[in-house]
Amino acid sequence: MLKIENLHATVGTREILKGLTLSVNAGEVHAIMGPNGAGKSTLAHVLAGREGYEVTSGSVTFDGKELLELAPYERAAAGLFLGFQYPVEIPGVSNLLFLRTAMNAQRKLRGEGEISGAEFMKRVREESAVLGLDMEMLKRGVNVGFSGGEKKRNEAFQLGMLAPKFALLDETDSGLDIDALRIVSEGINRFRSPERAVLLITHYQRLLDHVRPDFVHVLAGGRIVKSGGPELAHALEAEGYEGIAA
Ligand SMILES: Nc1ncnc2c1ncn2[C@@H]1O[C@H](COP(=O)(O)OP(=O)(O)OP(=O)(O)O)[C@@H](O)[C@H]1O
Ligand SMILES: [Mg+2]
Repeated sequence: MLKIENLHATVGTREILKGLTLSVNAGEVHAIMGPNGAGKSTLAHVLAGREGYEVTSGSVTFDGKELLELAPYERAAAGLFLGFQYPVEIPGVSNLLFLRTAMNAQRKLRGEGEISGAEFMKRVREESAVLGLDMEMLKRGVNVGFSGGEKKRNEAFQLGMLAPKFALLDETDSGLDIDALRIVSEGINRFRSPERAVLLITHYQRLLDHVRPDFVHVLAGGRIVKSGGPELAHALEAEGYEGIAA
């Protein structure tokens, strides 16, 4: 589904991604771990098409299409969802309006009609109930005044509502309390299906206890330096990166 080959990317004048290769198939959950500053969020930003990140060589295909040639909104319409380490606040735009606008924009690009108000609210009630988000919060400005954990829960809510094919979640577990971690993990597990894939960026084994990955990769120095199964995350937790990724 997602195929990244020998990706090199720079931010400003610095090369951050230095030949990153990674392939994710439908039905799989991959986890990326790695030291601070390794380039994990940079990878997420490059895949999202964020300004300021320049791909100097390599390729990324998504369902066989050249992802890097698509505008960010086209990537989203193609079924790519990116959850960020630091979700943005958008004052004056309610969470619900934001989501409905995003959903309809994606549907339009896919040649589908707009979602009806009744169907939209039905989905909102279903998804928000799973994540324990109340209606008052959903009517507030996007992430405005949300605690760190509430922002992450809201991200899981957006994931459930948009139902993309591929989700890349950058430190979705950071700042979550124990109950919220379980709730957000349930959201991700509900999202798992043979037609979908997930890439989780995380620093901690505990998320992977809830959302069991098929593959674990270590990203260090802008490249994937080691890949394995869930046991690799345990080894990292026990031994740190120095022994493993060196
Ligand atoms: N706009 C920028 N200008 C200059 N350097 C940048 C910029 N954005 C990122 N970097 C650098 O790129 C490197 C990789 O950053 P990135 O955010 O991808 O790391 P990360 O692996 O996500 O780390 P963490 O685990 O701390 O979230 C860092 O050294 C960072 O300082
Ligand atoms: Mg990061």
